[in-house]
Amino acid sequence: MANLLVLGTQWGDEGKGKIVDLLTPAFDVVARFQGGHNAGHTVYVKGKKVVLHLIPSGILRAGTLCVIGNGLVISPPAFFKEAGDLEAQGVDIGPGRIAVSRGAHLIMPWHPLVEKISEDRRGEKKIGTTCRGIGPAYEDKAARLGVRAGDLADLRILREKIEENIAAKDPVFRAFGLPPLDAEAIFREYADWAAKLGPYVRDVPELLHERMARGESVLFEGAQGALLDIDHGTYPFVTSSSSTAGGAATGLGVGPKTIHGILGITKAYTTRVGSGPFPTELRDEIGKGIAACGDEFGASTGRPRRCGWFDAVAVRYACRTNGVDRIALTKPDVLAGLSEIAVCTGYRYKGRRLSSFPTESWILEDVVPEFRTLPGWAGSLRGISDLGALPRTFVDYVRVLEDLVETRVAIISTGVERGDTVLIDEELGGLVDLARLRAPGAA
Ligand code: GDP
Ligand code: IMO
Ligand code: MG
Repeated sequence: MANLLVLGTQWGDEGKGKIVDLLTPAFDVVARFQGGHNAGHTVYVKGKKVVLHLIPSGILRAGTLCVIGNGLVISPPAFFKEAGDLEAQGVDIGPGRIAVSRGAHLIMPWHPLVEKISEDRRGEKKIGTTCRGIGPAYEDKAARLGVRAGDLADLRILREKIEENIAAKDPVFRAFGLPPLDAEAIFREYADWAAKLGPYVRDVPELLHERMARGESVLFEGAQGALLDIDHGTYPFVTSSSSTAGGAATGLGVGPKTIHGILGITKAYTTRVGSGPFPTELRDEIGKGIAACGDEFGASTGRPRRCGWFDAVAVRYACRTNGVDRIALTKPDVLAGLSEIAVCTGYRYKGRRLSSFPTESWILEDVVPEFRTLPGWAGSLRGISDLGALPRTFVDYVRVLEDLVETRVAIISTGVERGDTVLIDEELGGLVDLARLRAPGAA
């Protein structure tokens, strides 16, 4: 038994969903540890597109238990909408397949409203959030006002908590001229959700402990990316949860030593949705070309993703802060046709070369990236699954990235489908049971 943590090393949308779905056959349990339905993970199975937000990307593999940890914030309507869509596509989404932690916090009807007030107040400086109520739900968690999934078991407690929250929010709503919140209506709505969500709610730390004690293996699934982490990301242009490696332990109630390996998912270029500094951003035709070829539109909000060159300073920082063992490099096929490809190798700030990645947004905003230009490769990478079939120039490009980020590549993704993937056995073998991954039926 070996457990693997999968996380994004950039600003999200690195292709975590595809890789988690691909690796799931080698694991018994897939456990999400943070975030909420701000995430959007697109997975293709034999031409069919599935978009996951809250439910772990292991759900498309029958028999795998999918866990939603205490580190998440859950919108019950979003959860049941997603579950319903999956069920309509023939996926089993019963409580035998999905467990929700008692400690997961609930997104309540006031959270998106509070978020709108806060984004509007920031004006030009808005974060550009997904407007799903994620930030305000985490704010209430830290303020010790949050309503948790476990509270749904006792409607008296639920009513009390709703009333307590509304009393706290009322003055703010009044000040912004919003109609008062209706405690009774919200209580009735959430009492209905309580009946529906109840069968899914479990003691997740205990469940995971038992499964691991039985010799079962767990894939810990991160959402967002390291640069969106509340502590280690480009604050304040971040999400409100711990998307870095430590979040897996606190967000599921497992010890850090249960994480045996860490796979960082890294796009061959960079994208970002929402506001915030982005040193390698391309505001020209090349950027537009990458966006078009890579279909870079947010899976949650449909917003166009900002695109730029690969930033080795940022990815090396992410690899170091997370202890990334190996990288899965995604979407290099999108760079096909470019005669030259630039890679950012350093930053200068006020004329001085920085020795590390600055997480102060106001510094990152003003850095001047230094680039190394590499030759592009002839032909398409799309769909290649054999290491030997990769063009030599492309392999050289991968070697340069590995050296710059001080981490070896174990997987190269060459398209959206499961089969569009090169597995580098000698790099991946230490992290994943390859025999199990390749067992019949896993394709
Ligand atoms: P996530 O949030 O990290 O799971 O990533 P998203 O699903 O939001 O965005 C990644 C997008 O790229 C999805 O639409 C995937 O289908 C797609 N994708 C993943 N890997 C590859 C790849 O290697 N090549 C191409 N062209 N697309 C990919
Ligand atoms: P996946 O899991 C890309 C961004 C938002 C915004 C900031 C804060 O698909 O990689 P939030 O609503 O979380 O308070 O917004 O974080 N963001 C993401 N960007 N991929 C995501 O998830 C994201 N989740 C949040 O665009 O800039
Ligand atoms: Mg995404």
